[in-house]
Amino acid sequence: MTELASRERTRTADNALRARAARVIPNGMYGHLSARLLPADYPQFYDRGRGARVWDVDGNEYVDLMCSFGPMILGYAHAGVEQAAAAQREHGDTLSGPGGVMVELAELLTSRVEHADWAMFAKNGTDATSLCLATARAATGRDGVVMARGAYHGWAAWSNLRPIGMPAQDRANVYTYTYNDLASVQRAVDEAGAGNVAAVFVSPFRHDAGHDQELVDPAFARGLRALCDSIGAALVMDEVRAGFRLHHGGSWEPLGVRPDLSAWSKAIANGHPIGAALGSEAYRAAAGQIFATGSFWYQAVPMAASVATITALRDENAIAAMEKAGQQLRDGIARQSAEHQVAVLQTGPVQMPNLSFPGDENFAKASLFCGTAAAHGALLHPRHNWFLSAAHTSDDIDQALAATDEAFRAVRGQFGPDESKDGTR
Ligand SMILES: Cc1ncc(COP(=O)(O)O)c(C=O)c1O
Repeated sequence: MTELASRERTRTADNALRARAARVIPNGMYGHLSARLLPADYPQFYDRGRGARVWDVDGNEYVDLMCSFGPMILGYAHAGVEQAAAAQREHGDTLSGPGGVMVELAELLTSRVEHADWAMFAKNGTDATSLCLATARAATGRDGVVMARGAYHGWAAWSNLRPIGMPAQDRANVYTYTYNDLASVQRAVDEAGAGNVAAVFVSPFRHDAGHDQELVDPAFARGLRALCDSIGAALVMDEVRAGFRLHHGGSWEPLGVRPDLSAWSKAIANGHPIGAALGSEAYRAAAGQIFATGSFWYQAVPMAASVATITALRDENAIAAMEKAGQQLRDGIARQSAEHQVAVLQTGPVQMPNLSFPGDENFAKASLFCGTAAAHGALLHPRHNWFLSAAHTSDDIDQALAATDEAFRAVRGQFGPDESKDGTR
């Protein structure tokens, strides 16, 4: 066991903050970062991050394989990004108009992302997908939106997976299909009426929380493009979670399939708050017609950080670095799974890995596994894909594997060995 994996961990400061939070924040915390959704070994509050490591408010250190659920792609406090942000902050951030850096960022994105001829900026992924939907509706004069069942495109009513407090009417015009099943897309289009479909949303691969991940079938991607062309609907790629982790020019570039519109956020500024909707020429006029804005949408600091991030991603060969670290992690987990005779399923691209335990319906094994890993210094998630960053070194992965070794031991201890000899399925 490494020193990090064996270190004694306390929770004094975290528990005190949780008690105060319970009085002034609904449920003590809300949304996907609520530690109530996680095993007890997770902290709720964090103090700082550097590279691939984070420290909680009690000073406990972790190798972070959640990367703030995606934004951290170059590592926490990346020098180039933070210098660019600091230089812009010296000049100003939220001014009475945007900085020139907005044009620079739009030029960079439209030169990097192959389908894009224009860019609009906002604050987060929900803004970006909403901008794409409004643009598609304005362009087509139609209301219908077709999306994969169980996919998440933001907390807005049309894609909210738990739409409490949202009237059913807000979800009218939404039709669903099964990822990678073109016939089901056709059925959804038929249900909507082909002449009523404004947009077909898709993610680069199936990355729904709580499910094994599914890479896209190239025939599905091509079929989706052809179907959108035949009915005159916009193909919208939701790059919010996977953007720039798979390909610099757009996640489906290797397949030769280009969307009309794409939504970006999370990783495009290495943790600084910004979202972007990108579009092709045919949708420029419609994008110019919609009214969309926000008090903080024009902040110059995140834009400067985004320029520095996107530049560094290619200059520093970030995708190759994430793939290397991700492969080391996947191989190590496969080895440990066999050694401990605990069967696992590893799905998704190695730089956005997902781990599940066959037959683990209520996530009991996954929760024990991830809770134990947290207690030994590695942040994972039992029901959501993990993320690699370009800052994860071989040593970081070794340290994470020391924690997962303890986690496998705990799962085998509580649930016993699986029958399969090699431990993987
Ligand atoms: C694929 C996808 N789309 C959209 C969103 C919404 O992004 P945000 O939380 O920044 O609004 C997310 C967030 O997790 C996402 O994963």
